[in-house]
Order: sequence, then structure tokens, then C-alpha cells
Amino acid sequence: MILKDKIAAQLPDWRNRVRKLVKESGEVKVDEVTISQIYGGARNIKSLVTDISYVDPNEGIRFRGFTIPELIQLLPKPPGAEMPYAGGLYYLLLVGEIPTAEQALEVEAEWHARGEVPQYIFDILQAMPADTHPMTMFSAAVLSLQRESLFAHEYHAGLKKDEYWVPTLEDSLNLTAKLPAIAAYIYRLKYQDGKRIASDPSLDWGADFAHMMGVENKGYADLSRLYFLLHSDHESGNVSAHATHLVGSALSDVYYASSAGLNGLAGPLHGLANQECLGWLLSVYEKFGGVPSKADLRQYAWDTLNSGQVIPGYGHAVLRKTDPRFAAQLEFGTQHFPEDDIFKLASMVYDVVPDVLREQGKAKDPWPNVDAISGALQYHYGVREFDFYTVMFGVSRLLGVTANAVWARALGQPIERPKSLTTAMLEAAAEKAKAQA
Ligand SMILES: CC(C)(COP(=O)(O)OP(=O)(O)OC[C@H]1O[C@@H](n2cnc3c(N)ncnc32)[C@H](O)[C@@H]1OP(=O)(O)O)[C@@H](O)C(=O)NCCC(=O)NCCS
Repeated sequence: MILKDKIAAQLPDWRNRVRKLVKESGEVKVDEVTISQIYGGARNIKSLVTDISYVDPNEGIRFRGFTIPELIQLLPKPPGAEMPYAGGLYYLLLVGEIPTAEQALEVEAEWHARGEVPQYIFDILQAMPADTHPMTMFSAAVLSLQRESLFAHEYHAGLKKDEYWVPTLEDSLNLTAKLPAIAAYIYRLKYQDGKRIASDPSLDWGADFAHMMGVENKGYADLSRLYFLLHSDHESGNVSAHATHLVGSALSDVYYASSAGLNGLAGPLHGLANQECLGWLLSVYEKFGGVPSKADLRQYAWDTLNSGQVIPGYGHAVLRKTDPRFAAQLEFGTQHFPEDDIFKLASMVYDVVPDVLREQGKAKDPWPNVDAISGALQYHYGVREFDFYTVMFGVSRLLGVTANAVWARALGQPIERPKSLTTAMLEAAAEKAKAQA
């Protein structure tokens, strides 16, 4: 299999590189930790390593060194499509090189071969109470597939450590292959007539998702490809990536680990933000009975801030510029449906809100993040069930976290175990620092 061969070919060099770095420079300091960071969610503490993506505060995400506009340009696309194959993106995340069209299609073919979802998954989903949150359904489906794990099976049969990554790659392909069908079925079951739409083997992974959702629209197939690319990875410190990595570090297989990551993604401070953004846009629209004037929008933004709320979709923990994932979606909407009211409103917010946030002077980053617009695009195509948006985020995010899981096993990353201190110990450290000052 091409992915396995390509990774295997790089492994000796990677392993040597890491071994040498740790052996020769293991004591070199790259960061210092302050008390406020310890109480502040470990923010910005440089303590993780991934070579799959990097978020530059001023430039945004690079996947394997490539910016989003570069990826949209360079990754192979299905004939007649504007957005790249997800299979090519997965190849890039796993292998580190831009694939040829043939290589991207090999990943797509692997997915087709592994894409059939066992009946018991549908049975489990159907058995859940109707008001179950779609993220609970999605995470439960992923977790329930754990019995299929080759890693778990081979580990118990005595797999050598050097080989851990091989069944992890198999598990990752088996799992990611099934995500579009699982997610689309959750959508059909929860919000539509409950009838499952069969996969169309002539379609790529992204377009097949759109088809199984029941949204037969060329634009929506492209939006799905774009969405799955944009949300796939964002370094390893965000909650979903870190939760997946942490759980995987116990040698829990990718089903256990991915389900954990999805549970983190389900939190309102992480993946749920996109639905809050759309909610805010719709509340503006409703209040003014349409797209307001800039002056009215400005006032509404101030009212939101003055009532002690945040403006959803704006600000970021790391970024200090317009998120390129926002920019790519803005461009998509501008090209496809510039006259859509909710899209127009989202664009207008981009003209108005950064100045308001700057005037208020609190947010370190007044610029839009990925969530400021993604809901508006789904809304245009009629996917208006907000709760479902995080499931699509999860489909995409599992591409990144499983690619990371393969490399974590390939490079023998150990179990995570940061050290805790007590408040009294930190107070003592503070006293000591004062005395020395
Ligand atoms: C993304 C976010 C959680 C980052 O948090 P952060 O790193 O703590 O952000 P900052 O350091 O800039 O926060 C400093 C202050 O600015 C405020 N702030 C940040 N973004 C803001 C926004 N969009 N609207 C209003 N106030 C904001 C914070 O609430 C904080 O206020 P406080 O000092 O009273 O607690 C934050 O910007 C936010 O809440 N944004 C809106 C929700 C959102 O879009 N989430 C999706 C993220 S991908």
C-alpha cells in the first residue's frame, strides 16, 4: 500500500533524527513555565511536537509546510471540481508530500475498499434516544467500531514496538473511510426521513459525503471538500488533537483515542463555536429584518459586548491575523453566492467587527477565526441544523488526529505524564522568587 511504503521509507531517517536530537541536545531549554500559564490552561507552553501542521500567529496554519491557498492550488482535484480530493490531503498529512493525482486516487481507492459501515453501527445509532446530541452519536459510533481495531488485536498478540504504526495506519484508514457514511447517516436519521442514502462508488470521499447527506449540488460537494481540508488539523495543542494524542499515548487504539478527541470537540469552547456564530448572525438578521446598515451592525456589536458577551467567531488563542481558513471560505462564498443574505451579513461583520473589538481593546486578536463564516456557508446549501456542524468538523478533524496518531506510534512517542504541583508549592515558589528579587 502506497501510504505504508512511503512512511516506511522515511522512518529510518526520522527515527535517527529524533534520537540524535534527544541524545545530543536533550537538556536544551526551549521554554520556561510561569505560574499564570499553569493556572491558565497550559497556554502557549511549548511542550508538544508535531510535524504535520504548524500555526504561525501572523500567518495561520501550514499543513506540512503549505499554506491553505497553496494547498487549494497544488493538491489534485477531481475532474471539474474546484476543491481537492480529501484523499490527497490525507496523503499529504501522512506522507508530507503533495501527491500526484494517481497517489491521491490510491488513498480514495483505499477508502472505497474500507468504507462499508457494519450494520451494528446503524443499529446502535437507531437505538439511541431521538434527542441524543449528534456528537454523542458520532463519538459512540466511532467508539463502537473499536472492536475492529487491528492495533488492539495485534498488540495483544505480541506486536513489536517498531511495528505499532502499521496497524495504527490500517485502523486509521479503516476508520476515516467510514466517517462520511456515519456522519451522513446521523444527519439523515436525526433531521431527515431516517432513510440511509447508499454510498456512490463513483464519487470521491468529500463528494460522497454530500451525496449521502442528500444534498445533491456540485457546489456543496466542493464546499464539503473545502470544509474537510480546512478543519483537519491545527497543531496538536487544541483540545481535540491533544485529547486524541493523550489517550493514544496510553496505546489506546485510534478508535478509543478519536472518540476521546470528538468528546473534546463537542465542548462549547471548541467545536461548538461555529453554531454560536451562525446563531449570532441570524439574531442580527432577525432583529433588523434583513441585512442591516453598517452603522446598525456596529451598534449591535457594541450591544453584544456591553452585555458582557463575546462576539462569536472573532478572536483566537494563537492567531493574530485573519484566519486563512476564514479567508478561504469567504472567497468560496464570494464566488458562489455573493448575493446570499446571510453570507452578505457575515462579510459585513468582517468589515465592522474588527474595528469594534480594537476600540474595546480587550481581545488580543480582533480578527475572524474559522468559525465566523463556516455556518453561513452550510446554511446556504440548506444544512441548517446547527448541532450537526460539529459532526462535520469532527469528520475533518479525525483526518489530522489519526495522521498524528500514526506518526506518534512510528516515532515511539511515550505515554504523556506532565507533573502536578500543589497551590502551596506554587506559593512557596512565588515567595522564593520575591525574596530573590
Ligand atoms: C477564541 C477565544 C476563546 C480566545 O480566547 P483568549 O485567547 O482568552 O483571547 P484573548 O486573550 O484575546 O482574551 C482577552 C480578553 O478579550 C476578550 N475577547 C476575546 N475575543 C473576544 C470576542 N470575540 N468578543 C469579545 N471579547 C473577546 C476575552 O473574553 C478576554 O476578556 P476578559 O479579559 O474579560 O476575560 C476568544 O477570542 C473568544 O471567546 N472568541 C469568541 C468565541 C469564538 O469565536 N470561539 C471559537 C474559537 S476557534
